[in-house]
Amino acid sequence: MLVTRQPVLRRFWYAVMPMDRLDAGPQPFTLLGEPIVLWKKADGSPAAVRDRCCHRTAKLSRGFVEGDHIVCGYHGWTYDCSGACVRIPQQPDLQIPAGARVPAYHCAQKFGYAWVALEDPLVPLPDTPEENDPAFRRIHQMDETWNTGALRMMENSFDTAHFAFVHKGTFGQGDQPKPRFFELRETDYGFEAEAIVPINNPPASHRITGSTEPTTTRHFHNQWHLPFLRRLGLAYPNGLLHNLYTAATPIDDHRIRLIQWLYRNDSEADCSAEELNAWDRRVVEEDRVILESVDADAPVDVGRRDEQSMLSDRPGMIMRRRLLELLHAHGETEVHGWPSAAPSPERETAPC
Ligand code: FES
Ligand SMILES: [Fe+2]
Repeated sequence: MLVTRQPVLRRFWYAVMPMDRLDAGPQPFTLLGEPIVLWKKADGSPAAVRDRCCHRTAKLSRGFVEGDHIVCGYHGWTYDCSGACVRIPQQPDLQIPAGARVPAYHCAQKFGYAWVALEDPLVPLPDTPEENDPAFRRIHQMDETWNTGALRMMENSFDTAHFAFVHKGTFGQGDQPKPRFFELRETDYGFEAEAIVPINNPPASHRITGSTEPTTTRHFHNQWHLPFLRRLGLAYPNGLLHNLYTAATPIDDHRIRLIQWLYRNDSEADCSAEELNAWDRRVVEEDRVILESVDADAPVDVGRRDEQSMLSDRPGMIMRRRLLELLHAHGETEVHGWPSAAPSPERETAPC
């Protein structure tokens, strides 16, 4: 699926950057192939419009903020958060042309991040039960670009079959390739996935798991939120909760902005944010390397048989079905860059 060619994906909220980045002035971002600029208004809330001045196309992200407005750095045309030009400094006594405006987008802040929906969102911004629970602290973990597709990143989160291979350097049990299956419950937003998985607990993760045993278990309480947000809820036997939220925000058809934050129900003294981030960095880095090797254009119409699957791929297959249903419900079909891969007789009998 080429995400930039599926208009319905413009109708979801995406986390695009930490709010504090906007303290340095207007910031550019590319969302679903669309160049946008974000800035912080006087009350601290974010705004987003297209990153192209309607005068001579300069990038507004090269301009500056003045009160609630963004000012183009070329000739000073000034825009409000609705995208309307409110000032042309060279001709203050003339009426501003009605067409002097740029497209504006839905923009809000939540969990310390700026979120953008390019068109009217189909569902509200997500909630997390941990956010207002005093038992938890929130830790910002990641904000970086990956050369992969958003669906690829999402299905990886619910794929227990890769632990023994991709994560054998951290928690994966390399001698146990047969995966535990998730118990899946579909919801209006996507699905919940629960599983108990034995893991290795090397010394480097003892303070993360709160255990010095050589192995332990993770009780996963995961969620997938259409289209590209996941919750990875990890419960350890001692009651420690390590709940990750990851947005795979589609920059374009081949890249995502990976934004991840963590809730822990312990204290900084128990395990510092620095230690937690360092451990999760090791694990996520293992995923990044393999996910940057796959084709970013993941098919959602499995009837095309572009890929073969196994039993543990079921979460990813549900994602494909739900995404395809979403496209169809909005009058779209999948746009993809794959050649037809239906097997020919020659291919089926070809030697390895
Ligand atoms: S290009 Fe922006 S004011 Fe001229
Ligand atoms: Fe992984």
